[in-house]
This record gives sequence, C-alpha cells and structure tokens, in this order.
Amino acid sequence: MKFYCMTLFPEMVEQAMNTSILKRAMEREVIKLNTYNIRDYTLDRHNKVDDYTYGGGAGMLMQAQPVYDTYQAIKKDAGTTPRVIYVTPQGSQFNQKKAGELAQEDNLVFLCGHYEGIDERVLEEIVTDYISIGDYVLTGGELAALVMMDAVARLVPGVLNNEESFMTESFSDGLLEYPQYSRPEEWMGKRVPEVLLSGHHANIEKWRLEQSKKRTLERRPDLYALKYPQEHKL
Ligand code: ADE
Repeated sequence: MKFYCMTLFPEMVEQAMNTSILKRAMEREVIKLNTYNIRDYTLDRHNKVDDYTYGGGAGMLMQAQPVYDTYQAIKKDAGTTPRVIYVTPQGSQFNQKKAGELAQEDNLVFLCGHYEGIDERVLEEIVTDYISIGDYVLTGGELAALVMMDAVARLVPGVLNNEESFMTESFSDGLLEYPQYSRPEEWMGKRVPEVLLSGHHANIEKWRLEQSKKRTLERRPDLYALKYPQEHKL
C-alpha cells in the first residue's frame, strides 16, 4: 500500500507515521508514505496557496492551481490514477468497513485542507471520495488523514504481527471487545473473574461472548441493533 498525502504540513504527517507499528511497516516496505507539500507547487511569487472567497465571507480558501498541480505530480509518480480522498467534515463517516474497503487499494491519495476549505472546481476535478472522521471540525485535514491511514494500514497484510492481529478485536464481528486482565490476580481488592483462571476454554469463550454482548448493548446500542436486529423488533 502506498499512501500519498497532499498537505501544507508534511512534517506533521511524516512524524506521526514514523512511529511504532507504522514505522516498522515502512521499514519493511509493506506500506509507503509519500508526502507532497502543496506549497511547492504554487506558481505565486510569494508562495501563496490561499486567497479570499468570491461572494465574500470570512476566511481564506486554498486555490485550485497548486492543489491540481500537486495531484498531477502524484499521478505521474504513481504511474496510475489513484483514488483521491478529500478529508472533510462534509464527507461520509469513516468506519471499520470503509477502512477495509480502502485497504484493498494499492495506492491512496489523501488531500488535507486548511483555512476555510478548497476551491470547489479542483475538488470536482480530482476527488473520488469525501470522507469525515466525525461530526466535529479540526483545524486541518492532517489529523483526520492520519486517523484513516492508521486504520487502513493495520489491515494491510504484513503490517501487524500475529499478536497484534486484528481478527478478534472490537468491530471485527460487529461487537465491542470483552474486558481483559493481566497480572496480578488481585489488584486494589479486585479479583480477575474466576472463569479466566479456570483453564476451561469453552467456558472462557462463552463468558467473553456474553461480556462482548453486554458491553455493546450498554455502550453502543446502535451497534448492538445492527448485529441483532431481530431482538430489537420484539
Ligand atoms: N477536517 C476538519 N475536520 C475534519 C473532520 N471531522 N473529518 C475529516 N476532515 C476534517
């Protein structure tokens, strides 16, 4: 998987990706990150990438030309026409299913906006997907792009090792994960549930599923209803 990130703050994206599991994955070349500084593609003498909006109103807008030329450079380097994700609170909501779908691609471009947004004409020209990470507004798209790249990268084969593997984690089967415990057996007067010390694997599995269901019903009734729609119709 090759990630291409169009941004005014490439060092922010690189630093975050160059940490921990994703750093290891990049060293092994299972994933790659190429950042493109949109400012490098401006034709303006003063390296300006933004201007006032037609029709008035507060704030500055990123201009079409530098964004478009950055995209052309990526297309040339990639040797293909990859999907371009504009990270924006106006997009459809990112989730685990979307992460899985994006992880099937060989190349993904993330376009990070700043100021009040980007000239609509270049968005119409290059963007294939409008995706939001939630109903709140960030100062720029970089953190949102990083969230998506992280969630996608860990689904790419070879990024996680067996212990880190995603098969039994939250969301993989539509339920939240059960509670987990490590040593010691007793901490602050709280004991690890007896069943987990029993060594009885069938009982442990049964307990974990019950806990997952209970937790999902309590914390995310919306997910529970998706998983067990028939129970809700009663
Ligand atoms: N840019 C600013 N806010 C955002 C959000 N919630 N999701 C994606 N991109 C954003």
